[in-house]
Amino acid sequence: MAEETLLSLKNNGPIIIEGNFRIMMADGNEVMVEGTRAALCRCGMSANKPFCDGAHARNQWKAENPAPAPTEQE
Ligand code: FES
Repeated sequence: MAEETLLSLKNNGPIIIEGNFRIMMADGNEVMVEGTRAALCRCGMSANKPFCDGAHARNQWKAENPAPAPTEQE
């Protein structure tokens, strides 16, 4: 059975990805990620895209669609 990969949205913050994953940019180059967890920018203000650098908090970014509450999984 393959290990599960989880993406979760933080309220007014990044997307957290955990598990086994690879990140491929539009130009086809793969982004090196150490470990099995990364925070991906959702606000568009990071100077280190695709990763979150905390700019969302410094700029008090508010998501148009707040992160929904988690639902129970089977
Ligand atoms: S979500 Fe954190 S810098 Fe964009």
